[in-house]
Amino acid sequence: MPDRKRVFSGIQPTGNIHLGNYIGALQNWVKLQEHYDAIYCVVDLHAITVPYDPAELAASRLATAKALLAIGVDPGNSLLYYQSQVPQHAELAWLLGVDTPLGALNRMTQFKEKSEKAGQRLGLYAYPVLMAADILVHKAHLVPVGDDQTQHLELTRDIAVRFNGKFGDTFPVPEQITPEVGARVMSLQDPTAKMSKSDPDESSRILVFDEPDTIVKKFRRAVTDSGSEVAYDVTGKPGISNLLVILSLFTDRSIDDLVEEYNAVQYGSFKQLVADAVVEGLTPIRTSYKNLDDVEVARLMTKGALDARMRAEAEMVGVRRLVGLGN
Ligand code: AMP
Ligand code: TRP
Repeated sequence: MPDRKRVFSGIQPTGNIHLGNYIGALQNWVKLQEHYDAIYCVVDLHAITVPYDPAELAASRLATAKALLAIGVDPGNSLLYYQSQVPQHAELAWLLGVDTPLGALNRMTQFKEKSEKAGQRLGLYAYPVLMAADILVHKAHLVPVGDDQTQHLELTRDIAVRFNGKFGDTFPVPEQITPEVGARVMSLQDPTAKMSKSDPDESSRILVFDEPDTIVKKFRRAVTDSGSEVAYDVTGKPGISNLLVILSLFTDRSIDDLVEEYNAVQYGSFKQLVADAVVEGLTPIRTSYKNLDDVEVARLMTKGALDARMRAEAEMVGVRRLVGLGN
């Protein structure tokens, strides 16, 4: 176990999980747990950095945990818990944050975007430092996330290097893992913007738990491009290229292969084909979600937090000593 590389990733319990989350990150979570020491976290402390409703948060936390289990995160093969139940995350965030230059935080594009909507608040500003702490508190080596987290990962590496330079080699410098295709799944309504939980237009995204007829409708409405050929060309044909990425993932076939087969198929039929593949792929996930028992999931999450707390505490003993706060 100790010589296996460690994987850490997190997802916010906000809204429903969409195809971008699934393709960009979560399918890698499921794969990586087979080969690595995998630690996955529902990052509820990150979710409260924007205005929220407590009752909704409580429901979304559980729904997110269940979604992860339904997608295939296996608590027998990985560690799964709620971030807020492991206080060492917040403790390390403070220890790392005291020394993080404001210049670096000012450059974070997600901070700029989110604070335009929610106002400039400390939580949003400190968000990337808490994310660094999530990863470093477990001394993780690999972090499966979509493309939109690249800047946060770079900051995490800077923070690790800075700490190591000051206090001695402590944290591995973590690497980002993104899928070869699908690291950035685009909106079905505007294929030049990423598919996102916060887009007010619901037909811009497919939710993992959308009913089959909703999925078909959303794909039917998806924006395509000029011309009539099914081809992969992200700048010239962003809509069709995005659909090809989705189809590739759900059929386990290469984009080249798909283009060769469907090149002459009309856009309308191609969209139907993609919809069918996605419906087929998501149906078992929807079924396993329905079969999960809330009480059992809550119990699993409590057990996960206990294990995670022990592991994080073991790391923090060393960190506290290094920074002069040991006993
Ligand atoms: P979030 O919903 O922001 O907590 O994101 C959860 C995970 O999904 C992160 O690893 C993101 O990088 C990833 N993700 C979110 N949106 C997309 C997208 N449109 N394409 C690919 N990955 C995404
Ligand atoms: N910021 C990430 C997102 O929005 C979520 C996150 C929080 C995360 N902590 C993390 C991802 C640690 C990977 C590792 O998607």
